Amino acid sequence: SKETILIQGAMDMEVDYLIKTLKNPTKQHIGSWTFWKGNLGKHEVIVSRTEVGLVNAAAATTIGIEKYKPTIIINQGTSGGHDFSLHTGDIVLGTDIINIGAIRTERKEEGVPENIRDGIFFDVVQRLRDSNNNLVTYKNFSSNSNLIEIAQKTSYSNGKISLGVIGSADQWNREIERIKYLNTTFKTQTEEMESVAVAQIAKAYDIPFLAIRVLSNTEIHNEEFNPKTALWCQEFTVNVINNIQ
Ligand code: 5AD
Repeated sequence: SKETILIQGAMDMEVDYLIKTLKNPTKQHIGSWTFWKGNLGKHEVIVSRTEVGLVNAAAATTIGIEKYKPTIIINQGTSGGHDFSLHTGDIVLGTDIINIGAIRTERKEEGVPENIRDGIFFDVVQRLRDSNNNLVTYKNFSSNSNLIEIAQKTSYSNGKISLGVIGSADQWNREIERIKYLNTTFKTQTEEMESVAVAQIAKAYDIPFLAIRVLSNTEIHNEEFNPKTALWCQEFTVNVINNIQ
């Protein structure tokens, strides 16, 4: 069926190619955020430049939902590898997405040294109210399994496709021991700064969601940010959309 698909990227380099592929695009600014609406194959597509970080992503998603009523939301873009098996150019399909910046600590008396690894996952930020007015706490948010399956079957030639956990926070971690700690604690394959906010809001509205993140860099293998990966991720996303029947 014909879907209305909200496709997001944080930065210009993560939406430029998507905008170019739209047929009959129209552009709209709302607040700080920009949307390009057009057609891609048989689907109606709204490309959304969310800007960087969880706050921007949450706002852009909420506005995008209220304004365009999407039936599918795809968040895609660059990310930093957390897993030894992954290299720059590989794509992670986020079966699960978690807020790796959500941390509380137990009280320590004055003089007891702080240690970020003593933090405990602060799941109250991953809480939503259901239609019966009950609060529900989510350990993580998930991509829609049908969309994961479609993406998994989509061809990609710039690396391999991996299914796993994406970690989001308003952080850019470059310390290998910290990255290994996050990988062990949260099973994260890669980190970035938007997808958990989008996944959470998609869940609040019960709209099928898919997170697609390319590794643009990975400290694990000392691979620096490669901007071409942002294009590869968009090309892959267009192929995924063409495979949505
Ligand atoms: N850590 C955090 N964010 C990253 N991004 C790319 N690589 C990383 C990384 N290693 C993305 C974020 C954000 C922008 C700064 O780049 O999602 O949008």
